[in-house]
Amino acid sequence: MYDGVYSEKVIDHFTNPRNVGEIEDADGVGTVGNAKCGDIMRIYLDIDHETQIIKDCKFKTFGCGAAVATSSMATEMVKGKTIQEALKVTNKAVMEALDGLPQVKIHCSLLAEEAVHAALWDYAERNGIKIDGLKRPKKDVHDGEE
Ligand code: FES
Repeated sequence: MYDGVYSEKVIDHFTNPRNVGEIEDADGVGTVGNAKCGDIMRIYLDIDHETQIIKDCKFKTFGCGAAVATSSMATEMVKGKTIQEALKVTNKAVMEALDGLPQVKIHCSLLAEEAVHAALWDYAERNGIKIDGLKRPKKDVHDGEE
């Protein structure tokens, strides 16, 4: 590892990622990619319909180390939260929780955020509901990036 480039927390979540895997019969599944680097992220959500609480969250990725670390942290942060609270788990919040990412790796953190949104969108569509504040997610996070 490059000393000083990645925080200890990033290295920890990369080498020991939390919530890797898939949820059978998930209530929502979201997949996004980044055409520029070719990385892909998929997030699975298990949601309690009555309380709207995310009971479980898992991810799978063909992604770089920063994508793994941010997804690991993002899944930890949305688990146990309500859908509305989970929408506030932005890629910036995830990066802060990891004590930062190198500038060139910031885009990697968008995969997790967008994949969570895509999974919530999927949940809403399956149940015919609308989630306030949730925009139609991008399939490719590179769209609209400078
Ligand atoms: Fe593609 Fe990090 S380089 S997600």
